[in-house]
Amino acid sequence: MNVAILLLLGLGLVEGEGRCFFNRTEEHCVCRSLSEETLGSIIQCLPASVVEFWGGDLEKYAALPISNLQPSTMDLLETLHIRKLVFGDLLVPEVLLAKVLMFFSYTRVQELVFESCSFAGRSNWTEMAGCNLPILTLRFHNVTSAPLTGREQGFSSLSSWLETLQELAVTSSHVTTLPCAIGRVFGTLRSLDVAQNSLRDDSLMPTFCEGAFPQLQLLSLQRNNLTSYHSVCESLQLLHELQHLDISQNKLIAGLASSCQWPMSLRIFNLSGTGLDGVPTPLPPNLEVLDMSYNHLHTLDISFGSLKTLLLSQNMLQDASFIRNCPVLEVLHLDDNLIPELPWDEVRVLEHLKDLAAAGNPYNCSCSGARGIQTLAAMVHLGPAWPHGYVCHAPPHYQGILVKDVPVSVLQCNSAAVITPICIILALLCVAGAVYLAKSRYRLFQDCRRAVKGA
Ligand SMILES: *[C@@H]1O[C@H](CO)[C@@H](O)[C@H](O)[C@H]1NC(C)=O
Ligand SMILES: *[C@@H]1O[C@H](CO)[C@@H](O)[C@H](O)[C@H]1NC(C)=O
Ligand SMILES: *[C@@H]1O[C@H](CO)[C@@H](O)[C@H](O)[C@H]1NC(C)=O
Ligand SMILES: *[C@@H]1O[C@H](CO)[C@@H](O)[C@H](O)[C@H]1NC(C)=O
Ligand SMILES: *[C@@H]1O[C@H](CO)[C@@H](O)[C@H](O)[C@H]1NC(C)=O
Repeated sequence: MNVAILLLLGLGLVEGEGRCFFNRTEEHCVCRSLSEETLGSIIQCLPASVVEFWGGDLEKYAALPISNLQPSTMDLLETLHIRKLVFGDLLVPEVLLAKVLMFFSYTRVQELVFESCSFAGRSNWTEMAGCNLPILTLRFHNVTSAPLTGREQGFSSLSSWLETLQELAVTSSHVTTLPCAIGRVFGTLRSLDVAQNSLRDDSLMPTFCEGAFPQLQLLSLQRNNLTSYHSVCESLQLLHELQHLDISQNKLIAGLASSCQWPMSLRIFNLSGTGLDGVPTPLPPNLEVLDMSYNHLHTLDISFGSLKTLLLSQNMLQDASFIRNCPVLEVLHLDDNLIPELPWDEVRVLEHLKDLAAAGNPYNCSCSGARGIQTLAAMVHLGPAWPHGYVCHAPPHYQGILVKDVPVSVLQCNSAAVITPICIILALLCVAGAVYLAKSRYRLFQDCRRAVKGA
């Protein structure tokens, strides 16, 4: 009970009718608006590995003396199974946050999530100096707080544990800048997700300054206010370990080809929904996954020896001949483009292809076209939209018919191939017949002459 109350106080659960629900099979416990009367129900959360607290106001707990725990309490905290804690719809005084974090330094919590929370006031964090937290993942979604700029000093007190953090997400939270010094604290961070914020081209360069996020492998800048492809490239050049970059859903301008070099380590690149009407250059040279779906591409002039996944759905491409330049492609998505025929005779490419999706294109169901697609359907998986999403647009008499239903037997398709040999044989027979006739006439004529002479 001691632990339960402490947890409760630490987590600041407040008035309102509510209680905790524990799902044993999922080891998941959800508490909503706990009050003093329903406080006891937190006991059932103790065996849980994920605990969520939703609703309330923590302000009144800001003065709690959490930092001075009894050794016996610390031992108890260490035995808890809790791995992940979620706080939602809460007003959190920042001073209390510092204390709560301190409290967790005695547990084995690895992931801490704050959703739709407001952090009020400022904490100087100095109490946290030298404190070790087991937390590896920290997520903030739809939170508000005082701006970070000017508080670098305060955060440096947190460096001993921020140094070991591996994943950080601050999403949908109106972030406009991340000061250079903050990035330098995150020495081992592998994943940074700052999707759905207000970062602009000019805020990236200071954020990814020399020495910031030296181990970063995954970066999501999805749906921010970025506009220049070139400037994003310039700003991320120092991330030498970067493998996965998502800049989807920014309204980008490709601009002229630039001399900027992307990190050589980049393998996965997401440019989906960026309003591109041409392929931006340069692209990272060693890509394995490239997502350029939901753009306005008309043509594609790319060449990648290593590309395995190419996603191009929802563009305006008119042919798929570029696959010739991507010899190890395994996944190709071409749905909803303007491609009339699929290059089914690219045997070298098709050898590796496992997943091809190309529904919603205006297919030309001439014999070779329809047969090409039917052949492909027999060789690779054409996605869940096969056959109903593959419809003929030409020639007129097949318009609206499923590609699958177009007859493509040799006789129907390539009548010339069947009829020509027959004609040749017939012609030869005719010639042979004529020659025979001529010969026999000649012989008859000779016989007659001989008979006449003899007479
Ligand atoms: C626990 O979670 C499982 C899986 O989501 C679900 O099937 C089950 O109904 C839940 N149990 C309770 C008591 O809610
Ligand atoms: C974001 O958080 C605020 C409270 O801070 C809440 O009112 C709002 O509904 C949340 N928005 C979403 C989309 O969750
Ligand atoms: C970012 O873009 C959104 C809409 O595109 C706009 O409302 C907002 O003001 C922009 N923010 C900044 C900081 O430019
Ligand atoms: C790219 O980002 C979009 C969201 O903008 C997402 O739906 C898609 O799955 C991402 N692609 C890859 C390959 O991760
Ligand atoms: C369809 O393909 C055939 C044979 O390749 C070609 O002659 C014809 O012009 C094409 N039709 C359209 C509308 O592209």
